[in-house]
Amino acid sequence: MSRPLYITTPIYYVNARPHLGHAYTTIIADVICRFHTMRRAETFFLTGTDEHGDKIVRAAKQEGLSPRAYVDKISRLFRELWPELNIQYNSFIRTTEPYHIKVVEYVLQKIYDKGDIYFSEYEGRYCFGCERFYAERELVNGLCPDHKTEPELIKESNYFFKMSRYQQWLVQYIQRHPDFIRPAHFRNEVLSFLREPLEDLCISRPKSRLEWGITLPFDNRFVTYVWFDALLNYVSALGYPDGALFKKFWPYAQHIIAKDILKPHGIYWPIMLKAADIPVYKHLNVHGYWNVEQSKMSKTLGNVVEPLELKNVYGLDAFRFFLIRDMVFGLDANFSESALIQRINSDLANDLGNLFSRVLAMVHKYFDGLVPDVDPQAEKELHLGLTSCALSTIDEYEKEMESLAFHRAMQVVWEYVNRLNKYIDMTAPWELAKKKSTRKQLQVVLHNLLQGLGVISGLIYPVMPDTAATMQKHLGMDPQKPNYLLDSLRTLTTVATGTKLPKSVALFPRIDPDKFKRSVEYTDETGVPATAVKPEITLEEFERLDLRVATVIKAESIPRAKKLLKLEVDMGEKRTIIAGLAESYSAEELVGKQIIVLANIKPAKIMGILSNGMMLAAVDKKGLAIVTLDKKVTPGTPLS
Ligand code: ME8
Ligand code: MG
Repeated sequence: MSRPLYITTPIYYVNARPHLGHAYTTIIADVICRFHTMRRAETFFLTGTDEHGDKIVRAAKQEGLSPRAYVDKISRLFRELWPELNIQYNSFIRTTEPYHIKVVEYVLQKIYDKGDIYFSEYEGRYCFGCERFYAERELVNGLCPDHKTEPELIKESNYFFKMSRYQQWLVQYIQRHPDFIRPAHFRNEVLSFLREPLEDLCISRPKSRLEWGITLPFDNRFVTYVWFDALLNYVSALGYPDGALFKKFWPYAQHIIAKDILKPHGIYWPIMLKAADIPVYKHLNVHGYWNVEQSKMSKTLGNVVEPLELKNVYGLDAFRFFLIRDMVFGLDANFSESALIQRINSDLANDLGNLFSRVLAMVHKYFDGLVPDVDPQAEKELHLGLTSCALSTIDEYEKEMESLAFHRAMQVVWEYVNRLNKYIDMTAPWELAKKKSTRKQLQVVLHNLLQGLGVISGLIYPVMPDTAATMQKHLGMDPQKPNYLLDSLRTLTTVATGTKLPKSVALFPRIDPDKFKRSVEYTDETGVPATAVKPEITLEEFERLDLRVATVIKAESIPRAKKLLKLEVDMGEKRTIIAGLAESYSAEELVGKQIIVLANIKPAKIMGILSNGMMLAAVDKKGLAIVTLDKKVTPGTPLS
C-alpha cells in the first residue's frame, strides 16, 4: 500500500462566481486524488471557501446583502458545483465556521505567547483589492501589479508577525528540499524573493475599518488579517491540534494553487507553521493561468468561462480531458472553444472512440460478443511487442502523474491507443476471419485488443471517471470491483475470457465545429452577455459629459511607467493628460493628432502627475485605438 495523500485546493473567495480557473485547480486535485486511489493510497481531499475580509464585505454591499447572507449564497454555488464536475472532495471548509475560528484563535495565541507577534504603528501603501500593504519595490509604476490602481497611503497601529526572524530558516529549508515548491521555476521565484530582507507581516485590521473577521484573542479591538485566517484552513479542516485526521494526513499534505497566490503559500504559510511548531507541508504544487482566447479572464472583458456551460454543451469528461491535456502544469495555457472541439474530435472521437467501437464491433461480429480465449502458442506470434508496450505505458504513466506532468501522462496513454489502432491495421482481423485456419490468430488479436482497452479504461479513470466506467461496463468488467488499481492493470487480465459483452456505444460523438462553435456565449459574472448594452440614460444625463476636441502638442514617456504617456494638449486652454497609450503608440506619432477628451472628469494624480481630462479610446484584444476626427477642427470645440 502506498503512502496516504492529503490534497487541498485554495479556499476560494466568495466575491465572485466559480469560473474555469477555479474548476481547473479543483479538477486537478480530484485527478491527483483518484490517481492515488489507483495505488491503494488512503486519501483526503479538501476544498472550501474564504469568507472573511474587506473584499467580501464590499461584494455583499453591492448585492444589498448582509455579509452572512452573501457568503452563504456564494459558498453554496461552489459547494454545489463540484459534484456536477464529478469532483469527490472529502470535506468542504468555510472560514466562518466555529471550528475553524477556534483554531485561528489558538494559533494566534500560541504565536503571541511565544513572542513572535508585536504591536506597532505602521504607515504604508495599502491595496484594498489585495487587502495588503505593498512595499514600494513591489509596485509597478506606482500601481498595484494586480489591480492597476494606486494603493492608498495608510497609517495605523497594528499587530505584526515577526516573519523576518524565520527568513534564513526558510531559505535553508527550501534549499534542502528541492521539491518543496514545484515546478522549479516557482521555487526559484520564492528563493529570489527571499534574497531581499523579508518584512514583518501585518496580521490585524482595526475594527473601525473592518469588522467582518476573526477577533484577535489578545486584543478585541482588532480582527485577523484574512490571509492569516485563510491559510490555517488547511490544518483546521483536519482537526488540528489533536484530531485523528490531522495526525494521519498532515504529514502527507500537498497544496495546489495557481501562481497568483505563490507568496502567501510559499512564504507566509511555512513560516506560520514553523512559528506554531507545526511541521511544514510536503509539497506546494503551483500551476499557471488559463487565459481565454489569449487574454486574461476578467469581468470587464466579459470572457469569464462558466464550467457548467461547457459541461452541458461538450460533455463533462471531454471538458475535464481538455483541461488536463492542454495545460502543461506550471505554465499558462490558452482556452478556446475551437481548441476544445479539436481535442474532442481528434483524441476522443477519432483515436479512442474509434478504437473502442471497432474492437467491440469485431467481437460481436466474429465471436458473438464473447471475450475469446487464447491459445498460448498463437499468442506468441501475434503479440508484436504489445505486452511490453502495455507495461511500459503503465510505468511511464505512473511516473508522469507523480511528477505533475498530467498532459504527458495523457500523451503516454494516447501513444498506446494509437499503438492498438496500428495493431489492428497490422494484423488485419477481417482477413484472419475469412479462413478457418486462422481462427486461433483472430482470437488472440481480439483478446489482446480487449485487454489493451481494459488497461486504457483504468488509466483514464482519474481524468474521465464516467468514460472509464462506461468502457468497463462494455468490457464486461464487474462494476463493484475497483478495476483501475495499477497492480491489477499490470496483470493485463482485467477483461475476463468468456464474458458476454453488451452491444457497443459511441463514447464520444464527433462535433461539427461550425454547428457548435460559439454556442457557449461568454457572459460576465452577473450572467449578462458580454455585448450587452448598459442601462438606458436620458439626454440630460449625456449632456453632463463635457466632451471636447483637443490637439496633442507634446507627448513624452514617464520614467518607471512603461504603459503611460504624458500628453500636453491644446483644448482652447492647455491641459496635461496621462494616458495608458505607450504600448500602442509612440510619443512622436501622437503629436499633431486631434483627440477627444472628457474635459470635466475629476482630475486624478497618476504617478505623481495631475492628469486633467480623460481621452477616449477603444480597447480590444489587439490593443488600443484612440478616437480622432476625420477633419481638423478648432481645438476646444465641444462634441454634440
Ligand atoms: O486567492 N487560471 O482566492 P481566489 C487558473 N481566497 N487558475 C485560476 C485562475 C485562472 N485564470 N483564476 C483563478 C484566493 N484560479 C484566496 C485563497 S487559500 C488559503 C486562499 C484559481 O478565489 C487558482 O487556483 O482568488 C488560484 O490560485 C485561485 O483560483 C485563486 O482563487
Ligand atoms: Mg484572486
